[in-house]
Amino acid sequence: EKGGFKHFMLKEIMDQPNAMRNALRGRIYQPVDAAPDVWEIKLGGLEKAKERAVDGRSPLERMAHASRLIIAACGTSWHSALIAKCAFEKLAGVPTEVEYASEFRYRKPLICQSDCLIAISQSGETADTLEAIKMAKQYKALTIGIVNVVGSSIARETDAGMYLHAGPEIGVASTKAFTCQVIAVLLMALRLGKQLGTLSEEMLHTYCAALSAVPDSIEEWLKSLTEQTRVISKYFRLATNALFSGVGIHFPVALEGALKLKEISYIHAEGFPAAEIRHGGITLIRNFVPVICIAMRHDPAYEQTKQVVSDFRAKDAAVVVITDQGNRDFDQVAQFVVQCPETKLELQPLISCVPLQLLSYYIADMRGCSIDQPRNLAKSVTVE
Ligand code: F6R
Repeated sequence: EKGGFKHFMLKEIMDQPNAMRNALRGRIYQPVDAAPDVWEIKLGGLEKAKERAVDGRSPLERMAHASRLIIAACGTSWHSALIAKCAFEKLAGVPTEVEYASEFRYRKPLICQSDCLIAISQSGETADTLEAIKMAKQYKALTIGIVNVVGSSIARETDAGMYLHAGPEIGVASTKAFTCQVIAVLLMALRLGKQLGTLSEEMLHTYCAALSAVPDSIEEWLKSLTEQTRVISKYFRLATNALFSGVGIHFPVALEGALKLKEISYIHAEGFPAAEIRHGGITLIRNFVPVICIAMRHDPAYEQTKQVVSDFRAKDAAVVVITDQGNRDFDQVAQFVVQCPETKLELQPLISCVPLQLLSYYIADMRGCSIDQPRNLAKSVTVE
């Protein structure tokens, strides 16, 4: 059932192009009778749910006019939520807040009827996320689920939502569910942008075309990426600490890279926004400490990030830069450069997270760790 792979985690990493295609299927398409560059987005669970309409408005219309979106999630799903915030605000212009479900539920937050709470969860069973939904419902806020497991508690408890269609995720460390969550929130952001008119038709078509091309480009890239990440992993397998940096929409990817590494290889790891390291974490940088930096040319603070990367190198850190195809800016300062296939900046997390997943996987494997079932960790945390 591992399909010839040594672990479910590796199978699930390699399955991502297919999982993403399934997450996109039927939701993003080119109408047969339209011009060749015209795309449509349809999110049945949010648009069609007539029986769930309130005052004649579908969940999508209520979301679009919510006073704010509040996303509650835990762990990896919380990282997708941070990416969602960037996408919702940039593409749809909707104010969005992100909460750890566990913090949110115990803090007695201010919630009003015009708010919309979005719960992101692979399992649909995480106790804190479920409680956050119940709390939002007490205040009559609209609740939306982004869930992988069909018929799970969160899917049933929310007013409407989207399934990921990622297929079953067996490895405890989340991989394909994460990328499919990112697909789901990008689709939602684009659909909201269309609804509200914040995205022009032309921009919408450009994003849709780019999004539909992502699974193929990852599939092609994986052929060489596995070998490259294996070489880097060999170099880092004995590390005791590692740092991950990224700016803007890549900061959550850095957090996710750090979580994956600590989760399965037991190497202490931290993610931070590039410039923020100057405010404390820089003391950890020394000889051979791996620093994995995501630095894309379209990132808002690219020039500053380049400076930070040179500073790391000057302190003898072992720097890996994850960057765009053909970017030679880091050839002199990085030990390793991983070049990602090109896409639009907001879609880039779908791609830039993949080498980080593979690095964690190979490092953990070289250290002989129990990859699919890391110590002390459960696939879904149903205790409170
Ligand atoms: C990390 C991981 C966990 C989960 C978290 C939330 O790889 O799997 O951090 O993301 O426990 O779980 P779900 O998404 O099922 O609510």
